[in-house]
Amino acid sequence: MGRPHAPPPPVPDREAAPMSGDATPQPPPIGGRERLRRLAALVRDVARFAGPRRLVSTIMLMGATAFAEGAGLLLLLPLLDLLGISGSGRVSGWLGAMGLPPVGLGGALALYVVLMAVASLVVRARTLTVLRLRLAYVDDLRRRLHDAILATEWPVFSRLRSAALSQALTEECVKAGIGVEFLLRLGTNGLQIATLLAAAAWVSPPLAGLLLGLAAVAGLTMRPMNRLTYRLGQMLQEAGRRMNADLLDDLAGMRVVRSHGLEAARRRRFAERIAQVRDSHLAYMSLAGTEQALTRTAAAAVTAGVVLTAVQGLDMPLADTLAVIVAFARLLSTGMALRQGQTMILHALPAHAAVGDLLRQLREGAEPVAAGKAPPFERSLRVEGVCYRHGSGETPALNDVTAEIPARGITAVIGPSGSGKSTLADLLLGLITPESGRILADGRPLEGSDRLAWRQRVAYVPQDSFLFHDTVRNNLAMVRPDASDAELWDALERAAAADFLRAQPSGLDTVVGDRGGWLSGGERQRIAIARALLRRPALLILDEATSALDAESERRILSVIEALGRDMAVLVVTHRPATARCADRLLVMEGGRLVAAGRWEEVEARSAPLLARLGLLATAA
Ligand SMILES: Nc1ncnc2c1ncn2[C@@H]1O[C@H](COP(=O)(O)OP(=O)(O)O)[C@@H](O)[C@H]1O
Ligand SMILES: [Mg+2]
Repeated sequence: MGRPHAPPPPVPDREAAPMSGDATPQPPPIGGRERLRRLAALVRDVARFAGPRRLVSTIMLMGATAFAEGAGLLLLLPLLDLLGISGSGRVSGWLGAMGLPPVGLGGALALYVVLMAVASLVVRARTLTVLRLRLAYVDDLRRRLHDAILATEWPVFSRLRSAALSQALTEECVKAGIGVEFLLRLGTNGLQIATLLAAAAWVSPPLAGLLLGLAAVAGLTMRPMNRLTYRLGQMLQEAGRRMNADLLDDLAGMRVVRSHGLEAARRRRFAERIAQVRDSHLAYMSLAGTEQALTRTAAAAVTAGVVLTAVQGLDMPLADTLAVIVAFARLLSTGMALRQGQTMILHALPAHAAVGDLLRQLREGAEPVAAGKAPPFERSLRVEGVCYRHGSGETPALNDVTAEIPARGITAVIGPSGSGKSTLADLLLGLITPESGRILADGRPLEGSDRLAWRQRVAYVPQDSFLFHDTVRNNLAMVRPDASDAELWDALERAAAADFLRAQPSGLDTVVGDRGGWLSGGERQRIAIARALLRRPALLILDEATSALDAESERRILSVIEALGRDMAVLVVTHRPATARCADRLLVMEGGRLVAAGRWEEVEARSAPLLARLGLLATAA
């Protein structure tokens, strides 16, 4: 028996769910502490993903880049010495002290070229390393999210919007990856600045102190911008989600759009959506532009001040002053790159946080996994006093239902729409767990952690059968990769799908289109039934799966179902009199309750008015 199964976390109410993107409130602005917390989450995530070795080697590579660039700069001093520009003469002094001969102009220049060549190679290696890390991080994030989607409890999944999931898996993961790259670059920039400051301190400690002070002032000045940048990132992300959601709705509902004359309305709405995306993007770029313009102006003023201080205040030799100016220019450009990186991270952070939130939500709702084997099912499946509520809704979809499904034979579930038939099917499939009551397989309770294994033994065909955009062969073989063509045809034959498929020029290699949309509803249903039969399940559930079939196809499938019922349990949810009549037993649902159960004659005697209302008597008589 599996370990006790914790109930999945509460899922949002259907009533509370927004009906349109417009109703979605803008996410509330978050404070500096929360931003820091999210930044820390990104840092932790990268550290966890890259592992200590990769992180250390990347940082070392960054350090090498910073050092190579700094060393190139230091070479300026002997160059200036050698060019005869009056300098301190310190460098020749050091070389002499180390017992090295003074380098000539040619030697120094050659050294400079070599150093720059090495530096560019190091930069290349760093760029590629960082890119590899970023791409691998995006892959990893996507894989984790995809895994979490596959493993989460059904009610958690079914409450999420597919647009949000697809947006997260595509754009938001990429954006998070960009955040990671800039985070690593931030590391390089930081190291570079430290190197430059150290060099400055070497030349003139008070100057280095001044620079440090300036950097602190700059950092403080930028703080209010951070909030705005993050907010714009949030808005862009929200706008992107809305656009994506509308787009998916348009594509899925194109038939409704076209047939109801909704083109103009949808066009307007989509134009609004893309305008929101564009506006939030523009607002961000404009903010970043303003900030850069201000920074440049401030930088020019500060440079002037530094030169003035160095030349007049500190009375430095010309060569040293020149070196300080070059170092300061580098410091400024590195500082600006650092700030740009910070902005990019702030802008990307909402995407990373959104993916993180989704991951957490999905994982908290993860279905328990047990190593155990599938529960036995030789005698019967018993539903005992089961109640189930979708979301936190008031009215239960199933209310104290007790029923028995024998391991052999056909059980039909009938009842008005909304009476809980599909909910019962989901329960028997192990997609959802009862709120109270239990399900027993051969008397053994089906625990939360047994459900995964249990689903290996069931096959399910819904009313709107889904086929993958692939060939019929691949749609069938995905459930039994070892099946021969003869076995595929046999399943198709039994599902009354062989005739129409033989008439197709490509036969088994016919491509079915998105969701099977290149086939008729009936053709799609029959192929879905063939796929279910190939699984050789112990329990086959057909939820109004014959609804799109003509009487002739239904008759053929019924004879197959009757044959199947001899050695497996078949549960058919149906509105069709012929299907209901071929069942060995009927379960009659109304308003979430089981109102009658038994053979046709028994049910007819007890619930004739309901059967008549469902149209099961008039047509069948
Ligand atoms: N995912 C869901 N979220 C909220 N309510 C649901 C959901 N699925 C079904 N319901 C509600 O539960 C009740 C039973 O639904 P269902 O089992 O699908 O009925 P049936 O298959 O008999 O038509 C209905 O009132 C329906 O509106
Ligand atoms: Mg239903």
